[in-house]
Amino acid sequence: MTDHTAYEIDNSGIEPNRNHSSNPHFADILQKRRQFLKGSLSTAVVAFMGTSLVGCGGDDDNDNRSSSSSSSSSSAPASSSSSAASSSVAPLLGFTAIATTRADAITVPTGYTATAFVPWGTPLTGSMPAFKADASNTGAEQEQQVGAHHDGIHFFPMDAKTTATNSSEGLLVMNHEYIDHNLMHPNGPTLGATRPTDEVRKEIAAHGVSVIHIRKNGSNWEVVNGSPFNRRITGATPMDIRGPASGSAKLATKYSPNGTSTRGTLNNCGMGSTPWNTYLTAEENWAGYFVNKDATPPREHKEYSVPANNGRYYWELADSGADEYIRFDASTKGASAVDDYRNEPNTFGWMVEIDPFDPESRPQKRTALGRFGHEGVIFAPAVEGQPIVCYSGDDSTNEYIYKFVSAEPYHKATAGGYLLNTGTLYAAKFNADGTGEWLPLDITNSNFIAKAATAGVTFADQADVLINTRLAADVMGATKMDRPEWGAVHPETGEVYFTLTNNTGRTTTDAANPRANNATGHIIRWRETANSNTSFNWDIFLLGGDVGTTTGEGASAVALTADNHFASPDGLWMDPRGVLWIQTDMSGSQQASGPYGNNQMLAADPVTKQVKRFFVGPVDAEVTGVTATPDMKTLFVNIQHPGDRSTPTNFTSHWPEGGNARPRSATVIVTKNDGGMIGA
Ligand code: FEO
Ligand code: CA
Ligand code: CA
Repeated sequence: MTDHTAYEIDNSGIEPNRNHSSNPHFADILQKRRQFLKGSLSTAVVAFMGTSLVGCGGDDDNDNRSSSSSSSSSSAPASSSSSAASSSVAPLLGFTAIATTRADAITVPTGYTATAFVPWGTPLTGSMPAFKADASNTGAEQEQQVGAHHDGIHFFPMDAKTTATNSSEGLLVMNHEYIDHNLMHPNGPTLGATRPTDEVRKEIAAHGVSVIHIRKNGSNWEVVNGSPFNRRITGATPMDIRGPASGSAKLATKYSPNGTSTRGTLNNCGMGSTPWNTYLTAEENWAGYFVNKDATPPREHKEYSVPANNGRYYWELADSGADEYIRFDASTKGASAVDDYRNEPNTFGWMVEIDPFDPESRPQKRTALGRFGHEGVIFAPAVEGQPIVCYSGDDSTNEYIYKFVSAEPYHKATAGGYLLNTGTLYAAKFNADGTGEWLPLDITNSNFIAKAATAGVTFADQADVLINTRLAADVMGATKMDRPEWGAVHPETGEVYFTLTNNTGRTTTDAANPRANNATGHIIRWRETANSNTSFNWDIFLLGGDVGTTTGEGASAVALTADNHFASPDGLWMDPRGVLWIQTDMSGSQQASGPYGNNQMLAADPVTKQVKRFFVGPVDAEVTGVTATPDMKTLFVNIQHPGDRSTPTNFTSHWPEGGNARPRSATVIVTKNDGGMIGA
């Protein structure tokens, strides 16, 4: 019989602690950072944020706020020693905060409505197979249905490439990060010496990305059935490998002897939308899907914790023995790399570009952005004639934050994925004095060459650097972080925010990660130095924790209250008005026993640090991924893994259908009952 416990995914535990390099933590930075936030809130805010803050054209509330904060420190928000609710500027957040709850439902503020949409199994393409409540759909049917475990999501208005104002029709593109084995099949997974091939086929098909053409019908949203844009990309879809690692001998496989293609994308967590309206999907905890039983696995596997005994879901054991399944066994079997799949894991760990407006296009793995546990990617505002800049975090304990700067300049008229094929990848170092450095991971850079030599680490070429991005960042002395998750960039100032979700393994306190046994996480932010690719200034925006948890000191201190206490920040999005949306991914036990209730989404004003809880998810779920129509009147929020502590016969959640229904990941549509903008 199946041992279901072998399959359980514990979100708090799937990111291994790989990083044993001697790079410094932020050990004594905090004390110095406190100097940074001394004085009134207004002084601190203006000192950090500069003078061109949060211009939020159009909306009355924001006009007032923008003008009051963009001229000088004397007109910046009034100081407040607790939450900034008493600020003299008009609040950006016009709703009443909701309380924590453990309801098996979506909870939103008074005056708002939340509706589940496109749950796992929604028919999407081909013969449009209906979802079966007992989860008995086949693999072939799953390939034509919306995948499981909704995560990063983006709404592309149908006129994205021109005016980008269409708020009633567009392409909703979303990730399907993983599966709950206990819920995927009628009786859970079947495991023996082999696995039934169709179970494996179904599980692979439940991963990947959905492109869903949607439009408004009256006040409701519907899927445009039969649209040529509707598309499933799965863990089996053929993809190209582009950029500096394309063609590397370390990517050569039986499937692609020249190392230029692979099949599928896996564990797609966060995402990013490019300035040229394509979708980048992140490959996060991909390593666990493979197995390498070799006595001495290569560093490309070891540094990413490719398992030695079995893949997470035992896909390598599919009883057909077909090539598409045995590829998950990366053990050395043949005479050379083109005779087996020893390099298959090297074709994962990348950012993958998908053009949702070109249904025939092949996804492109963009190797210049590095290979690690990509949580997502966020682009700085594109500037005509300047390089493209984007940021990505490696969500694993003590891993790094990265930046990519394109070699080619951005021109709106001709911009495309080629911009992501050449450029420089940097890793972040946070200095004690509040400055930061971007360290180039570039085999032609003399500093990199010297550091690698000192460390005794050899890279054959830039492809080797990128395939071993973590090692390259170790070599350069990047700063170990408390599990970098999503980033957000202010659309006008370019200021960058990143969630650091938690790190209960931290024993040495430090500054950008200032707490030992950091169970509740925090949010860091920085601003790039003008005319420099390699320096920035940073501070801690907000510490997660229970009521009373305080960020900053003295007059600038901001304390969490019952309206906004939270833990394990993960998803992050800055909307066009400058509202920062913070989503949480607390573990099951933290939700069950902590003071926070179920996972939630909060809205924050980055200037005043006013924070209000806006949304609470159902039982045993994560709130992850958020996007909106251009008019900000429809918000799309993803709910992932409701009831993830279920067994095949005992569901801990019945969301969204209720009753005795099997729980299913789904998107939630949030609207304001008066038809207004969300959060205003
Ligand atoms: Fe998929 Fe780091 O969350
Ligand atoms: Ca996440
Ligand atoms: Ca997480």
